[in-house]
Amino acid sequence: MVRVHNFGAGPAVLPLEVVESCKQNLAELGTTGLGLMETSHRSKTFQSIIDEAILELRELLKIPEDYTVLLLQGGASLQFHMAPLNLLSEGEFADVLVTGKWSQNTLIEMRKIRNGAPVWDGSEGDFRRIPISSEYSVSQDSKYLHYTSNNTIYGTQFKERPDSRSKPLVVDASSDICGVPIDVSSHDLIYAGAQKNLGPSGVTVCILSPWAIEKANSNLPSMLSYRTQKAKGSMFNTPNTYGIFVLREVLRWIGRNGGVEAAYERNKRKAEMIYEAIDSTAFWSPYAEKESRSIMNATFRISDESLMEPFIAEAEELGFKGLRGHRIVGGIRASMYNGLELSSVESLVQFMGDFEKRHS
Ligand SMILES: Cc1ncc(COP(=O)(O)O)c(C=O)c1O
Repeated sequence: MVRVHNFGAGPAVLPLEVVESCKQNLAELGTTGLGLMETSHRSKTFQSIIDEAILELRELLKIPEDYTVLLLQGGASLQFHMAPLNLLSEGEFADVLVTGKWSQNTLIEMRKIRNGAPVWDGSEGDFRRIPISSEYSVSQDSKYLHYTSNNTIYGTQFKERPDSRSKPLVVDASSDICGVPIDVSSHDLIYAGAQKNLGPSGVTVCILSPWAIEKANSNLPSMLSYRTQKAKGSMFNTPNTYGIFVLREVLRWIGRNGGVEAAYERNKRKAEMIYEAIDSTAFWSPYAEKESRSIMNATFRISDESLMEPFIAEAEELGFKGLRGHRIVGGIRASMYNGLELSSVESLVQFMGDFEKRHS
């Protein structure tokens, strides 16, 4: 087995221990005689898997007891629609901090059913930075403020929770959930596709405050209703059983390795190493402004553009995969989620230094 250095933005690298556990349980889940993907979601075995996954998440993120945790499908993209559908009644609107492509999509989807107001829009500055709270105000009549905690494509990240001026706060935390600490109790809805820091695609973690459950419109199509999903324990229909098993394994792995705080320290260290390399000479050119840089996705280019393709090609050949930047931004993007080993970053930095020497 050869496992390369996977810097892909998602689905992303998982800890090898987790992958091994999936492999082991695929043919027989524990000692049940049934394979992992062949076990009923209505079985006691699966019920304890989903319960343990949720409990693990509650412990890792210190989720208040009166908050609801749902494990849904449809990715973060469905939440762009489902959140306003549930949390806004007709005629109501939410404020949105537009810090990248995913928050633009949030606004587009929100406006298809309700209304959304962009209270800050970073598109003119090519989304190279995150606003500070004095740069935006929250509308008096809006029902909540939405932000994207980490902008996967542009490589920017909120360092502090935005100031919602006491309004309910909703966050798309798809690319930094459990990779950085988050104060759950100051949010009313946290949603995240699992496929970066928490497991495979096909599972969406949703954490809802009592306000969100109370505010959620009743009489929505069942699959789109937070209330129904809560009443049915995330199993109104057949859930992604395999994905939820992997999620549980990743959460246990985070727990065994010191929890979210320790994951954060490891992620900071990885990011520091990459940014030190990028900042050390003018050979490299960072994309995001320094204060806004993400510790999950580092975006940069080579100042001499003609060297970009040779760099990517050589990196691929040497086993550094997934480094090509998103098509909107181009350049290089190194994604460094929880599952990425420090040694992968060390090897990349060494390769970058070597490449630079040969081409300077
Ligand atoms: C921050 C963010 N939000 C939303 C999405 C879309 O997620 P999904 O594919 O789960 O709908 C992504 C995907 O990369 C993302 O990075």
